[in-house]
Amino acid sequence: MSSIQTIQVHTAPAYEVSIGGGLLHTCGQHLREVLAPCRVAVITDSTVAPLYLKTVTGSLEGAGFTVCSYTFPAGESSKNFITLAAILEFLAEQHLTRTDCVAALGGGVTGDMAGFAAACYLRGIRCVQLPTTLLSAVDSSVGGKTAIDLAAGKNLAGAFLQPTAVLCDTDCLRSLPAAVFADGAAEAIKTGVLDDESLFALFEDGTLTAAPEEVIARCVRYKAGVVERDEKEQGERKLLNLGHTVAHAIEKCSGYAIPHGHAVAAGLAIIARAAESLGWTGEPIAARIAACLAKSGLPTTTEYTAEALAEAALSDKKRAGGDITLVIPKKIGACELKKVPVTDLLPIIRAGLEG
Ligand code: GLY
Repeated sequence: MSSIQTIQVHTAPAYEVSIGGGLLHTCGQHLREVLAPCRVAVITDSTVAPLYLKTVTGSLEGAGFTVCSYTFPAGESSKNFITLAAILEFLAEQHLTRTDCVAALGGGVTGDMAGFAAACYLRGIRCVQLPTTLLSAVDSSVGGKTAIDLAAGKNLAGAFLQPTAVLCDTDCLRSLPAAVFADGAAEAIKTGVLDDESLFALFEDGTLTAAPEEVIARCVRYKAGVVERDEKEQGERKLLNLGHTVAHAIEKCSGYAIPHGHAVAAGLAIIARAAESLGWTGEPIAARIAACLAKSGLPTTTEYTAEALAEAALSDKKRAGGDITLVIPKKIGACELKKVPVTDLLPIIRAGLEG
């Protein structure tokens, strides 16, 4: 087994994120360090179940847990009330109690939905996250955001539920299709723009593909710090939404056919170009960010018009009254929140599309 890195997240309750190879094979023994023997409901999707469910179930049972599993059809289109209700009914049929646990095995959709089910069921039971994609490893498995999508937009119903543990098996990354790996690269590059030059350089010098565990650990460490300071997104945590206003609009316009990471890449490139052309950046960054995204096989623009994107974005949850809060990149390692009137969004997006 390769070496395991651990990162503490000091929320209440605190938990540990473990990163390394082989963790799905040993998940049972790792979880016994934080859980007494109990029932564990593994929630996964139709892509991940054939790859890893047997391994996880075997490891959990070997460590003394009683395991049941629920598999839903893979894809963002499953992240809705219907799947959530089916998972909740499953947990009830399996007689899970408050001392039992949900295990989210998969990518961002699975983590969000299984986490939300755990937050709702019996008014909240524990959840462990077993991310199998780069996107869930670098971002969504850490920090306790859980949600489903509504017709009005993405992630509009959800809860904060910090996981009891996160076990990120980096061996899973080897089986990821290139486009799915790229989805995670988009969130990681976003984190580089937020954090500092030394993280951003890991995308420019090829470390992301050569040693993804190093990048995952850097991204998780950065995110853990933000979440510890602002767990419920009252202020600083909003920075993690860099690129996401336009990204969610792109996803919505596409009927969720465009994956989240690809939309984040385009959203990040568009807001960087807008910031630069409106004179909000401290240095030229838009071309550098776009080059980095393109190097990872990600889009840097979108086919949708500024009008369509602005309309879709204004039903997004970040709208508060007549203002919308945008995350503006000033330079690599320095972004700021900017509240703008909703009427300014259209020209801002237009500036980002035209560059
Ligand atoms: N993905 C952004 C956050 O966790 O706040």
